Amino acid sequence: MARRERDHDRTAVQSRLSAQAPQLQGEEYSVAARLGSEKNQIMDTDLTARAGAPALHPHIDDYYGRRFNEVDRLGAGALGRLERERTKELLSRFLPAAPARILDVGGGPGVYALWLASLGYEVLLIDPVTRHVEQAAQYGTFAAQQGDARNLAASDASADVVLLLGPLYHLVDAAERAQALREARRVVRPGGLIAAAFISRQAPIVEVAAQLGANDDRIYDILSTLRDRGENDFESGFTVAYFHTVEEIREDFATSGLDEPTLFGIEGPLLPLLASRLVDDRPDYLEAAVRAARLADDHAALLPASAHLLAVTRAPGLRA
Ligand SMILES: C[S@@+](CC[C@H](N)C(=O)[O-])C[C@H]1O[C@@H](n2cnc3c(N)ncnc32)[C@H](O)[C@@H]1O
Repeated sequence: MARRERDHDRTAVQSRLSAQAPQLQGEEYSVAARLGSEKNQIMDTDLTARAGAPALHPHIDDYYGRRFNEVDRLGAGALGRLERERTKELLSRFLPAAPARILDVGGGPGVYALWLASLGYEVLLIDPVTRHVEQAAQYGTFAAQQGDARNLAASDASADVVLLLGPLYHLVDAAERAQALREARRVVRPGGLIAAAFISRQAPIVEVAAQLGANDDRIYDILSTLRDRGENDFESGFTVAYFHTVEEIREDFATSGLDEPTLFGIEGPLLPLLASRLVDDRPDYLEAAVRAARLADDHAALLPASAHLLAVTRAPGLRA
């Protein structure tokens, strides 16, 4: 294969390595943020950043703030749509009836917050990346504030639900993940729902091999290191991230004093079909993938094949 073709393939595969569909986009995103709207005052919460808030890793800020526009990730390709539909489906099984207060921590540009607000929930989205808060604030149907999962400004027991669909795979240090989970536990009411997303340690093997990336020695090496250590190599095209084994997810919850979570594979076993780019982006493939994921729900052996895992538990105290 000519070097140019190889480089092209490698770039394309690297862009999928993270299971986040990161296709780097150079353009700057600029919108007038509508922070401070009345929607941002909900939840009767003191949103002033608490002293000692930890700094976001500059590479994460640069990645989401400049290099990759997260706003399209869950809508552009079949894999993103699969992640979005399955995440909604799984959350719907556990959410309390609306109205209820939901803290969407690491909510990004607001895809799930928008959906939840449309269902009648009172949503406060928190994200450390300015661009994401600006994007989310544009909708106007929910509140969006800058903040960090490790140090939430929300009051104790002020939310019925805390979502962490992103922060825990961007915290490489287990102690920082525990801190984020303890914060979730603090701000959710007793018996409230905590739902957190993780990236599966093994999924890149399935996903990247399906794109023939494993045939490239350099990518093979990246996959092999990731499989052994869990920490993402920036050469993959993604940013600071930790890829979890199922056991490590359970450990994170236990360390934080939370009950053992129920785990779900978000994309399910047809992930490589949609990832391969060897098939067309057809609605019936997406439907098949959603159905296969449902069939896999109670089968622990199939969990790690999903790119993302959803862990769901209830805060100690009253049961919902
Ligand atoms: C892949 S995006 C997911 C966005 C959205 N929750 C979703 O599922 O589509 C990961 C998000 O985690 C956020 N994030 C990273 N580190 C964080 C931290 N320490 N606290 C809160 N959010 C963080 C990022 O800014 C980004 O918005």
